[in-house]
Amino acid sequence: MAKVYDALQRAERERKRAASDVMPSVAPLDVPAAPPKARAKLRPAKAKRSLVARLRDRLGRQSVVDTSAEVNKRRISVLQPDSYVAEQFRALRGRIDALAEQRPIRTVVVSSPMAGEGKTTASINLACVTAMSVGRRVLLIDCDMRKPKVHQALGLRPEAGLAEVLAGKVAFEDAVITIEGMNLDVLAVRSRPSNPSELLGSPRMRELVEKVAGSYDRVILDTPAALGLPDAKAVSELADGVVVVVRADVTSQQDLEAALEALDRRRLLGLVLNGAHVDHGRYGYTS
Ligand SMILES: Nc1ncnc2c1ncn2[C@@H]1O[C@H](COP(=O)(O)OP(=O)(O)OP(=O)(O)O)[C@@H](O)[C@H]1O
Ligand SMILES: [Mg+2]
Repeated sequence: MAKVYDALQRAERERKRAASDVMPSVAPLDVPAAPPKARAKLRPAKAKRSLVARLRDRLGRQSVVDTSAEVNKRRISVLQPDSYVAEQFRALRGRIDALAEQRPIRTVVVSSPMAGEGKTTASINLACVTAMSVGRRVLLIDCDMRKPKVHQALGLRPEAGLAEVLAGKVAFEDAVITIEGMNLDVLAVRSRPSNPSELLGSPRMRELVEKVAGSYDRVILDTPAALGLPDAKAVSELADGVVVVVRADVTSQQDLEAALEALDRRRLLGLVLNGAHVDHGRYGYTS
């Protein structure tokens, strides 16, 4: 837990330092950087608005486009392997690997307290940097059956996905998609079931996670927000560890505490501080 606050405090120090010399510049994820805030946390949950909405307010509608460039923005670690962001995800992978020497860590849930804090982006980047380690087989599962984004972010068109596998309609092997040129398989979402929580908490989900944990070196599970829905908690109970994403200047300490409680803080492997104003106006990630 101390590490969580250390990370937040470090970010706050970085932000204050950057405030003195920051110049408007293009962020690594193609999103213009915001002027740094004076305080680490901002608004109460009710006042939270989407990143796109907030950026549009500040920069004008034309400046923020949520289009096919999304694919590239979210695969920053692959497309810009020398970037600061990629480096941070490799550091997170290294941390998980180090912990995996003490106990088996095959299955890793990525979640965050609230919606839109960067879970899917973090899941994809963590999966990609892990798959880039030599000789490793990695599986990324989109466990967000309410607002699935993994397929869209990776430019995939799945014919079947997690819901079909859990319903027993399609075999896992027939639903999984292999990303060419990488040791990365993806089980995306095709149809959105009416009972996602039930499916994620079902014995079939447990069987699936046990099965893939036996055949992949690492399995990354992208989930919905941890607060307000049982989905992330249900999946985290099946996993060896949890990575929690917090959005700088957005996630409140109270929400972070509640999410860690829901996901069981003893499972915490790392914290991704997304959108931190770390250096010369760049947005980045910290693990
Ligand atoms: N550091 C960042 N800088 C700029 N944009 C970002 C950053 N991280 C994520 N985004 C953008 O913010 C949006 C939300 O990100 P993402 O889908 O990863 O969040 P999420 O937590 O998975 O959302 P949801 O709760 O809806 O599943 C996306 O448009 C993504 O490209
Ligand atoms: Mg998501």
